[in-house]
Amino acid sequence: MATLNGSFAPARSARRSDWLARSATFCFLAIAAGQLLFTAFILLFYYPPTLTGNFAAWNDKPLITGHVAGDSAGNLFFAAHVLMAAVISFGGLVQVVPAIRGRWPAVHRWNGRLYLICALALALGGLWMTWGRGTWLNYIGAIGITLDALLILGFAAMAWRAARARRFADHRRWAIRLFAVASAVWFMRVGYMAWGLATGGAGIGKAMDGPFDLFLAFANSLLPLGLAELYLRAGAHDTPAARNGTALLLGISGLIILAGSAGAWMVMWGPYI
Ligand code: HEM
Repeated sequence: MATLNGSFAPARSARRSDWLARSATFCFLAIAAGQLLFTAFILLFYYPPTLTGNFAAWNDKPLITGHVAGDSAGNLFFAAHVLMAAVISFGGLVQVVPAIRGRWPAVHRWNGRLYLICALALALGGLWMTWGRGTWLNYIGAIGITLDALLILGFAAMAWRAARARRFADHRRWAIRLFAVASAVWFMRVGYMAWGLATGGAGIGKAMDGPFDLFLAFANSLLPLGLAELYLRAGAHDTPAARNGTALLLGISGLIILAGSAGAWMVMWGPYI
């Protein structure tokens, strides 16, 4: 079976790696379904008013600081941010699919450049919206998303450098880490919904300052990154315990992501389009 890194394992180790490959594929399909829903929401809710200059329509949905009359710089940053959000959410999925990398390397290269540009612009623009425009509800949340921006900038630089130097094994590792942290904003929404479904919203504060909010402020990037790291290590070390444990974790994560994505569509995205 083809694994996410696009390699075909020999017959004996293929049997051993079957579960890891299968659950990695399942987890990826769950991520893809969730990110496609997020992309559809951005395209349907943000693109029409942003491209026609009707910025005030952003505020039809609850936001911390969306359109503010007279704040041209802030509104333009927000416009660029939501336009690029759809590109990175869809483009990331295209980058990870091995069949596309193998069959159309030029698509992988050009989409990769676009992905990196969007990652830099979203991270730097997001930092400005947070600290320059003052779009935050509490310090912990602001520091959590700042950590995500710094991880995006660092991993983007490492993935780019490794690709330029043609160190493709390194490039793949940094790119998977980048994909994990660049998905944090989406993962935070899915995480809130999955947690809400499971617990009825325990630990979520009115100003997003409850224990769960504080946990998710950092877990939104660190959990996907940890999972990506386990996947990379399980593939490298090849012990049955590591592979089976990681396979189980990826399978459970896939189920949580499916439930959270369905919830996000029903509560956070679908009602506004
Ligand atoms: C890299 C992937 C990112 C994506 C796909 C993304 C996506 C989005 C989307 C779709 C919105 C509109 C709000 C909504 O409808 O939920 C938004 C708003 C925002 N983003 Fe990002 N973003 C990313 C990264 C970041 C980063 C790294 C930061 C901060 C350092 C950031 C800061 C913000 C802020 C402050 C807002 C305004 C929130 C509000 O007013 O409620 N974003 N982002």
